[in-house]
Amino acid sequence: MSGTALLVGGSSEIGFAVLKELLGPPPRRVVLAGRPSEELWKNAEALRDVGYYVTTAQYDATLHAEEIDGLLTHLSAEFPVDLAVVAVGTMQERSFTDGLIVNGLAVSLLLRALVRRLSGTAQLVLISSAAAARPRSAIAAYSLGKQLADSTAVLLAPQAARDGVRVLVVRPGFVRTRMTADLPRPPLATTPEQVGRRVARALRGRRVVVWAPPTMAVVVWVLRLLPARLVPPALR
Ligand SMILES: NC(=O)c1ccc[n+]([C@@H]2O[C@H](COP(=O)([O-])OP(=O)(O)OC[C@H]3O[C@@H](n4cnc5c(N)ncnc54)[C@H](OP(=O)(O)O)[C@@H]3O)[C@@H](O)[C@H]2O)c1
Repeated sequence: MSGTALLVGGSSEIGFAVLKELLGPPPRRVVLAGRPSEELWKNAEALRDVGYYVTTAQYDATLHAEEIDGLLTHLSAEFPVDLAVVAVGTMQERSFTDGLIVNGLAVSLLLRALVRRLSGTAQLVLISSAAAARPRSAIAAYSLGKQLADSTAVLLAPQAARDGVRVLVVRPGFVRTRMTADLPRPPLATTPEQVGRRVARALRGRRVVVWAPPTMAVVVWVLRLLPARLVPPALR
């Protein structure tokens, strides 16, 4: 049996789909970290049902750096983490500050702590967002937070690679999950399962950043070139 697989954002629909693509066959130790919720328990049960050894751990974006270290020490005490998927994010922040912390600062600290701890052939996947590459004013705190988290992972990737650790940053566009359930579905909308398959393929390659779907990279590139007045208001 290999080391521990960790999903931070254990209730996340995208995170769970990505984790399932990467886990490999059971038995294997899995930790789902997050705030207690029905979705978290449901994900844990679904993995147990097919033979994984699953525990849950409390992760909240309000954790300080020392508390994150304590959490990682605890959950990798017996079996080191060799796969970590970070899928924390919200567009329903309580305030601008909260949005920056949950989507940005907290994730940035977590990534740093993970990279320091991972070694060997470990893999670290950050579920970032297209909004990290092209912030939108309608979701300013979310976008700016994602920029920080995304940049942190990109910055850490070369050092991690020298230690044998693979860092992959995934920038999905619109994915149909409960986060986007109330939003109109745009062209290029994708599903958590499609993102999962994209991540699995990308990990076999060498790129640090991938988009889901791949054409989203082109769309964002074009939108960045256009003068603001030519961009539809919903995309500004
Ligand atoms: N859906 C999309 O269109 C889309 C597009 C691009 C990027 N993404 C990113 O993909 C990732 C997963 O999103 P998803 O679509 O799977 O939505 P989701 O199911 O709502 O997942 C979001 C995750 O973030 C966690 N989270 C939110 N606020 C938190 C906090 N204060 N402390 C700790 N955990 C917190 C949630 O935990 P709780 O259950 O406790 O709230 C949940 O596990 C996010 O980073 C999101 O930004 C999504």
